[in-house]
Amino acid sequence: MKIKNICCIGAGYVGGPTMAVIAQKCPDIKVTVVDINADRIAAWNDEDISKLPVYEPGLDEVVAEARGRNLFFSTDVDKAIDESQMIFMSVNTPTKTYGKGKGMAADLKFIELCARQIAKVAKDDKIVVEKSTLPVRTASAIKNILDNTGNGNGIKFQILSNPEFLAEGTAIPDLMNPDRVLIGGDTTPEGQEAIQALVDVYANWVPKEQILTTNIWSSELSKLTANAFLAQRVSSINAMSELCEKTGADVNEVAKAIGMDSRIGPKFLKASVGFGGSCFQKDILNLVYIAKTYGLNEVADYWEQVIIMNDHQKKRFADNIVSTLYNTVSGKKIAFLGWAFKKDTNDTRESAAIYVADDLLNEQARVSVYDPKVVAERMYANLDYLNTRTAEENREGLEVCKDPYQACEGSHAIAVLTEWDEFKTYDWQNIYDKMQKPAFVFDGRGILDKQQLKDIGFVYYKIGEDN
Ligand code: UDX
Ligand code: UDX
Ligand code: ADP
Repeated sequence: MKIKNICCIGAGYVGGPTMAVIAQKCPDIKVTVVDINADRIAAWNDEDISKLPVYEPGLDEVVAEARGRNLFFSTDVDKAIDESQMIFMSVNTPTKTYGKGKGMAADLKFIELCARQIAKVAKDDKIVVEKSTLPVRTASAIKNILDNTGNGNGIKFQILSNPEFLAEGTAIPDLMNPDRVLIGGDTTPEGQEAIQALVDVYANWVPKEQILTTNIWSSELSKLTANAFLAQRVSSINAMSELCEKTGADVNEVAKAIGMDSRIGPKFLKASVGFGGSCFQKDILNLVYIAKTYGLNEVADYWEQVIIMNDHQKKRFADNIVSTLYNTVSGKKIAFLGWAFKKDTNDTRESAAIYVADDLLNEQARVSVYDPKVVAERMYANLDYLNTRTAEENREGLEVCKDPYQACEGSHAIAVLTEWDEFKTYDWQNIYDKMQKPAFVFDGRGILDKQQLKDIGFVYYKIGEDN
């Protein structure tokens, strides 16, 4: 089957960039991205390409090329479903905040609503592709809804799992040049035909050897496993960073030494203030929940340690600021450089900065933040979501600055929370001159030049070094 029309439900960090690249690479396929959030769709359609709702290097060019040609953004979900042979589900699957599995299981209500809508609208056979990260065996729930809630006139649905492995900040190169594309589907002839239809889409730009096909459960579980392994590497190196600080070893030297072992490899060994992002924590909690559901307590406990270590890393970073500043930050100004969970993105979900700020606000610090891409409303929304204090108190305690020098002026300490490149090139002498003394820098990303800062007169603390 040759695919002519694709629809993607969910115009977020995954759906938007992924569909933009598919449209750019497959000019013969009409790709429509739909969302119930009208503001988001309006932003995707904005004439001013710098207003796209997702910031990703290179995304603007891809959208500019394909939009209006074969890439469309719309709020008319039903029309797009009706027109398409293949429908991607790319809606959010946050951790449940209520009821059974609260704080652990994935909340599948958006996926379920999507499936019900597809079932209601479809007038002919459809291939439905899971793009969102989902717990293993979700496909069977989706199939059940599709097969049993529709208008019952013999319409057939094939479900595929096609997890997305792009990382934010590098979404466009990751999509253009993926390490692999994974497609899981039914082992029946109809399932294999659906798999082939999607293989043919990717084969427009991805070499065939890199398109992997599996059964649907392997595909679903591989996504959770990949994220769990990546997060585990970060927690492992972060665990060593604390030991390095006590023993005089330097975590960067250790990372380099072990990374040269080809069995270990050099990537994902950067000690940090803790991993964030919408996937790692959510997916591991999900894995832990599934393991517990099957009574696999040792498996659950093993993976849960990755989260425990990450929470500890964020907490000890905040604690270290307080104890270094003579055990009190009450009334002191602490400047944050960075709020995003990593550089080159405006995404802040689960960013370590949120938790460090929350701890420091509890200690009555005044926090002033500069981030090159994150807007003030997002920062306040992140803090309000924690429910630690009132919205007014969050706005009193945390100031958002449009200029990094203004954020740092008069501060007692600077904390680097995101590894934005521009932080390295600031006029650090100028910053030093306008700070309270002693002037402290807590480099949660290990990106600044230690010798330069020490020469200027800063007291410099870096994750994973004996300071
Ligand atoms: C190990 C380290 O590899 C080596 O660098 C160090 O110097 C000494 O310790 P060794 O114990 O000789 O070497 O063997 P290794 O190949 O690492 O295997 C260790 C154990 O892990 C074996 O029982 C092996 O069967 C098992 N293993 C290894 C697995 O079960 N699965 C794997 O994927 C790899
Ligand atoms: C991740 C996976 O990499 C991607 O394959 C999957 O599709 C989605 O989840 P993402 O969350 O966008 O992508 O970013 P990633 O680069 O993996 O970083 C996650 C977090 O780990 C960030 O907070 C980052 O700063 C942190 N990190 C990463 C480290 O602290 N040290 C490292 O060495 C690597
Ligand atoms: P991700 O990082 O997985 O892309 P986002 O939260 O950025 O997650 O994007 C998910 C998008 O899905 C949101 O813009 C949300 O409005 C949209 N969405 C959720 N449920 C539906 C639905 N039933 N129909 C259309 N869009 C939906």
